[in-house]
Amino acid sequence: MPPAHSKPASAPNLVTLVEVSPRDGLQNEKALLPTAVKVALVDKLSAAGFTHIEVTSFVSPKAVPQMADAAEVMAGITRRPGVHYSVLTPNERGYAGALAAKADGIVVFGAASETFSQRNINCSIAESLERFRPVVAAARAAGISVRGTVSCALGCPYEGAVPPEAVVRVVREFAAMGVEEFSIADTIGVGTPEGTRALFRAALAEVPATRVNGHFHDTYGRAIANIGACLDLGVRSFDASVAGIGGCPFAPGATGNVATESVLALLGERGFETGIDAEAVRGIGTWLRARLAEAAQ
Ligand code: HMG
Ligand code: MG
Repeated sequence: MPPAHSKPASAPNLVTLVEVSPRDGLQNEKALLPTAVKVALVDKLSAAGFTHIEVTSFVSPKAVPQMADAAEVMAGITRRPGVHYSVLTPNERGYAGALAAKADGIVVFGAASETFSQRNINCSIAESLERFRPVVAAARAAGISVRGTVSCALGCPYEGAVPPEAVVRVVREFAAMGVEEFSIADTIGVGTPEGTRALFRAALAEVPATRVNGHFHDTYGRAIANIGACLDLGVRSFDASVAGIGGCPFAPGATGNVATESVLALLGERGFETGIDAEAVRGIGTWLRARLAEAAQ
């Protein structure tokens, strides 16, 4: 049985890092990376001790060309026992791909902002929730873990400020349909520690910290401080991307995910454990940057 997304509350010094470089990291790269490089990246990450890896997305190849080889990547990786390999699934077609690829977990991704929802997945928030409902039910029935992501939780590239209540509303809907883990995402990195604290406090009034994950982009260099604020509130699961690569093609101006290297340094300073080999992560970062440079030539 793959581990659930988040750690149990009985292990307060353990933090789960979900490595998203193969998915969020690569999706914004214009130059297409060879499938073999993506497979090698995932295998290097599992060898470095990551227990949770977001591998790819079963989305429209027109929307995100870099993810067009999702099935091939999933077929090419070497599964390490105990590692949870998840994929993004925006609809039933995406779920069919995830099921065929034997993903351990799926991610349905909604938003707290109407405009971003339209730009990202071409439907309203309400329509997206209706689309997700059968996907979540099917995944749960098949024993596949389900994460629900709420994008633009701290601000939207099109609408600006987003009130915590808009985020909480989606979290509540996700919980009601059977989503197990709630990933609260600062898509464009505009969050401050104060805003992050207020938002996560509001979310934690609805769902337990053991089921909450923080996903921070680092556009203004505040992701580490925001993760610190979440740690103070008891959140123990965060997304990160080796070398800080990443971004959403539908979130203009935003830069990469918080770098895994920086999150590991923060966690080490604060006495948290992850089981991840930080030295190996630095090596993977150097290797990945070289592969991206090659692809861009
Ligand atoms: P649509 O155009 O409304 O969907 O797109 P459609 O059902 O009308 O289909 C349009 C075309 O896409 C058809 O192909 C379908 O077959 C195909 P055509 O007939 O034109 O050749 N299609 C698919 N192909 C493969 N897999 C599928 C699939 N579904 C339809 N699953 C749709 C709606 C959601 C599909 C589209 O908008 C889409 O794929 N969007 C993906 C957006 C995306 O991946 N964004 C980045 C990930 S989210 C993110 O980065 C944020 C996150 O990191 C957290 C944060 O930072 O905020 C998670
Ligand atoms: Mg993201």
